[in-house]
Amino acid sequence: MAKLWGGRFDGKNEAWIDAFGASITFDQKLAQQDIRGSLAHVKMLAHTGIIPEADAQEIIKGLKILQEKVSKNELAFTIENEDIHLNIESYLHQEIGAVAGKLHTARSRNDQVATDMHLYLKETVLAILDKITQLREVLVAKAEEHIYTVMPGYTHMQHAQPISFGHHLMAYYAMLSRDQERMTESLKRIDLLPLGSAALAGTTFPIDREFTAKELGFNGIYSNSLDAVSDRDFILEFLSDASILMMHLSRFCEELILWCSHEFKFVELTDTFSTGSSIMPQKKNPDMAELIRGKTGRVYGDLFGLLTIMKGLPLAYNKDFQEDKEGMFDTAETVLKSLEIMAGMIHTMKVNETVMLEATEKDFSNATELADYLAAKGIPFREAHEIVGRLVLESIQQGHYLQDIPLSRYQEIVPEIEEDVYEKLSSYNAVKNRHSLGGTGFDQVKAQITAAKQELAVE
Ligand code: ARG
Repeated sequence: MAKLWGGRFDGKNEAWIDAFGASITFDQKLAQQDIRGSLAHVKMLAHTGIIPEADAQEIIKGLKILQEKVSKNELAFTIENEDIHLNIESYLHQEIGAVAGKLHTARSRNDQVATDMHLYLKETVLAILDKITQLREVLVAKAEEHIYTVMPGYTHMQHAQPISFGHHLMAYYAMLSRDQERMTESLKRIDLLPLGSAALAGTTFPIDREFTAKELGFNGIYSNSLDAVSDRDFILEFLSDASILMMHLSRFCEELILWCSHEFKFVELTDTFSTGSSIMPQKKNPDMAELIRGKTGRVYGDLFGLLTIMKGLPLAYNKDFQEDKEGMFDTAETVLKSLEIMAGMIHTMKVNETVMLEATEKDFSNATELADYLAAKGIPFREAHEIVGRLVLESIQQGHYLQDIPLSRYQEIVPEIEEDVYEKLSSYNAVKNRHSLGGTGFDQVKAQITAAKQELAVE
């Protein structure tokens, strides 16, 4: 079949080489965006008098038929037509004949493909923002159920100080709020129109880019045609934001996986989010959490892939750009699905409050409480730290915990210690007494939840 760009060629096409150059196997995902871009472009061509109104009407009619056919999955795209742009144009010819050839006036596939991707990414980011909101809602609801659930807080993966499980969940809420903020800010750079830059240098036709931008709902226009066709920052920024977001989900998944283990038993995921083993009948594996953790690697790969593709490219368009799409689609789909799975998993997980609390009662995570107690009695904190350190060692040697030391022994060491020390040593009180702003104190967790609900209500 003759190529739409075939005029200058008299050599024979080789199918296997065409297949290597084609992007249709993956860029067909941009079919609807491509048609929308063409509709706006042809309206602009008529509006500016570049093509007659009647021709534009014919083209619009044809494009609308294609729009319908794409939505019903009725168009079979071919490798001979290389990419989505040429496939759509070729189908337009079949629908309306030679007048279809006027659509590509004052346009190049270079500004066309960039426009399609801007349209795609704008929709995708808006969909992701929605899913982040849903996950944040799930986190706040779960945190509210668990304000008073006490668990060990860790540093170096060692028991550090008791915390509220609600506080732990709200930490992820905070991370996701930043992810949402980053993605929202990136829209400023995604919501831009490249179309009208043509191949690289603009066009001699009296086009009206403002008109096209308005038709497509873009908030701004690229001001430099070379930049417009060769900028992929907007995709890189998306991939970076997505990588950070996935890193957050992955960390949480890592915790869920640990917490589901026999050693922890802090939480239990529902059957929907778990799978069994083909050999070990007892197994219930947290596969979905593991997969999100694993897929985070793919998303990083997509980011690094595109960064590497871009690093040596001279202005303006280079065919290398065609490699920008699969990673973008892959990341978009991975992030959307991961957010959904995460929300479902957290919403339905069972939290073993007793196990969590018990884990804070047979440990030394109340050592800071004792040091703080001594410091409040006027003993310099460094000295208090030393005293408690020695008491911890003594307790380990004697096989008990700080709360098991008799008052008489405490008073031998520091006469100011009174009966009320035991109350301070309870992990529940250790959490309760942390009133400092943003700390794990129940009042602070409640304040975070109230603020979060207000944020979510106005979004
Ligand atoms: N399929 C191409 C891509 O994805 C479209 C742009 C082609 N432009 C060109 N000058 N060959 O990048």
